[in-house]
Amino acid sequence: MAGTEEIKYAAEIIKNGGLVSFPTETVYGLGADAFNSKAVSKIFEVKKRPTFNPLIIHIYQITDLQRLFASINKHLITLVEQFWPGPLTIVMEKHPQVPHIVTSGLSTVAVRMPANEIALKLIKESGTLIAAPSANKFGMLSPTTARHVSKQLPNIDCILDGGRTTYGIESTVIFLNNKGFKLLRSGAISAEELQEVVPALKDDNKPQRLISPGMLKSHYSPVKPIFVEGESTVQTSGKKIGYMSFGSPSTEKSYWKTEILSRKKDLREAAANLFDAMHRLEESDVDYIIVEPVPEKGIGIAIMDRLRKASYRYKSE
Ligand code: TXA
Ligand code: MG
Repeated sequence: MAGTEEIKYAAEIIKNGGLVSFPTETVYGLGADAFNSKAVSKIFEVKKRPTFNPLIIHIYQITDLQRLFASINKHLITLVEQFWPGPLTIVMEKHPQVPHIVTSGLSTVAVRMPANEIALKLIKESGTLIAAPSANKFGMLSPTTARHVSKQLPNIDCILDGGRTTYGIESTVIFLNNKGFKLLRSGAISAEELQEVVPALKDDNKPQRLISPGMLKSHYSPVKPIFVEGESTVQTSGKKIGYMSFGSPSTEKSYWKTEILSRKKDLREAAANLFDAMHRLEESDVDYIIVEPVPEKGIGIAIMDRLRKASYRYKSE
């Protein structure tokens, strides 16, 4: 577990325009000084991420919102009070100061305050704000441990180890204006929970060109083909199959390797184990992976979103 000295060392790297991978409550991030365009450009380079895919800026205190958003409205205040620090990313019209490289030239910027002590201390120590995507190669599995990060990004300057992340799935991303919100990416906080405090945007209030690459159809993929059970037909004979089971698998199912996401079928536990299980299966000798779908409620919506994106490119096989 990273201590004060390591966090200080990492903060120096950020100050000097380098990259640091750090834990959050969702997944590990790959951070750079959000106001240093050259440092931010390294993130895109290292991740092989297309520059049209904007980054989230991570903050540790509410007053920083004034530097990032063009204006503050009552819905923002409500959401921040209720859900921050926590797995909610808010996209709003940006302040002119926010560098274009962070937002991929969009007029909006994504911001969140992570609920993780190491992350918060790192941002504070670095004396700036930290732009960070998940610390994986573009399109590949997200990292929920420091080992997952070093597996995909072995050459980055520093990885702060914070153990396994709590949620195991990326933050909920919403667009917000003074009329309400629109869900851009599902996560631990559901649209229903948000609607209890802020209205959902009606279609005619939606921004004209709302692009969020979080809406890409294919993403979060392991290096092995992956299929959602019941959603594609797969040839299983003679193949080594890795099975990702939601609860304990039924006895008649026998696979080369089985990963159980949550014996007691708890969706939060399943989310926390999801990427770790996928990392283990992609590292194993299985030919491909079959996943049992989970109920689409609460964080289960985010789990199925990630699984469908992971399997999308194999659908036609
Ligand atoms: O939990 C998380 O959100 C993690 C941790 C590290 O904070 N970060 C993460 O970042 O998942 P990334 O870059 O992998 O995903 C950010 C998502 C992408 O889908 C991106 O397209 C969307 O947020 N996004 C960022 N800025 C946006 C903007 N201005 N408008 C619309 N979508 C935006
Ligand atoms: Mg990502």
